[in-house]
Amino acid sequence: MSTEEATVTAERELQGHFEDKIARDQRVEPRDWMPSGYRETLVRQIAQHAHSEIIGMQPEGNWLTRAPSLRRKAILLAKVQDEAGHGLYLYSAAETLGVDRSELTGKLVSGRQKYSSIFNYPTLTFADIGVIGWLVDGAAIVNQVPLCRASYGPYARAMIRICKEESFHQRQGYELLMTMMSGTAKQRAMVQDATDRWWWPSLMMFGPPDGDSPNTRQSMEWGIKRHTNDELRQKFVDMTVPQAEALGVSLPDSGLVWNSERGHYDFSEPDWAEFRRVLKGGGPCNTQRVERRRSAHEDGAWVREAAAAHAAKQAARGEAAV
Ligand SMILES: [Fe+2]
Ligand SMILES: [Fe+2]
Repeated sequence: MSTEEATVTAERELQGHFEDKIARDQRVEPRDWMPSGYRETLVRQIAQHAHSEIIGMQPEGNWLTRAPSLRRKAILLAKVQDEAGHGLYLYSAAETLGVDRSELTGKLVSGRQKYSSIFNYPTLTFADIGVIGWLVDGAAIVNQVPLCRASYGPYARAMIRICKEESFHQRQGYELLMTMMSGTAKQRAMVQDATDRWWWPSLMMFGPPDGDSPNTRQSMEWGIKRHTNDELRQKFVDMTVPQAEALGVSLPDSGLVWNSERGHYDFSEPDWAEFRRVLKGGGPCNTQRVERRRSAHEDGAWVREAAAAHAAKQAARGEAAV
């Protein structure tokens, strides 16, 4: 057997092991062989997810200094800090695939990698904080719970803790809205207005319709994705309509009706042209979000340098002691 033939045979064997592992629903770990497409898909998805957590701190961080009470401020601060933690777990998960965080951050601030389109919308009132918790974190939970069973071990394990924290986020938002809905007519109007603005962007969080999502099939075959975009979107709508009723707000879709034959709510199509525009950088806050991230990263350069110098000094001391 020539060297070339031997390489091909070995590769085929590795591919067989990988496929077998996926078929048996076992986890793929960092040192396992994996097809390059699988690795690239994971890096892209985990990086995009990590960026979304970090950029997602901005719309809510906008209200930290103006929270209406100490209690609301403490809750919001905890939530925004959780999002930073989610970003860090996810960058760490991406690092196990051979990319490093500074490389990914470089791609984010230069626009070469994306983050969720939802974070390009502004937070106009404090009711937005409640609605983000209810709808945006609610949609994130629907998207992310199946990822706890993703075939790549480090990603799946990171998602377990993230999902627990997301459910706290969802509940704090809903509780804030419940409080506002039992307040004045003006407060109720604020909640309705925020719901009207965030409903459609929340539906877009599940990505384009299945017919327009070319990577879904492969991701499902690899056990990264467990449900299609449209399945998850339907699940979110079915879950959210009764919550809106309990809250006493209406959802801004005249096509939203219960379909007893399907056992699901029917709903209208989001404006996909808007989705594509926001994703391409044309949303209300895209420039501001990336610019803010870039300047925060640059402002933090001295911290990274100091940490690296400290680590080098510690290592040198350790060597001297030996
Ligand atoms: Fe998060
Ligand atoms: Fe969250």
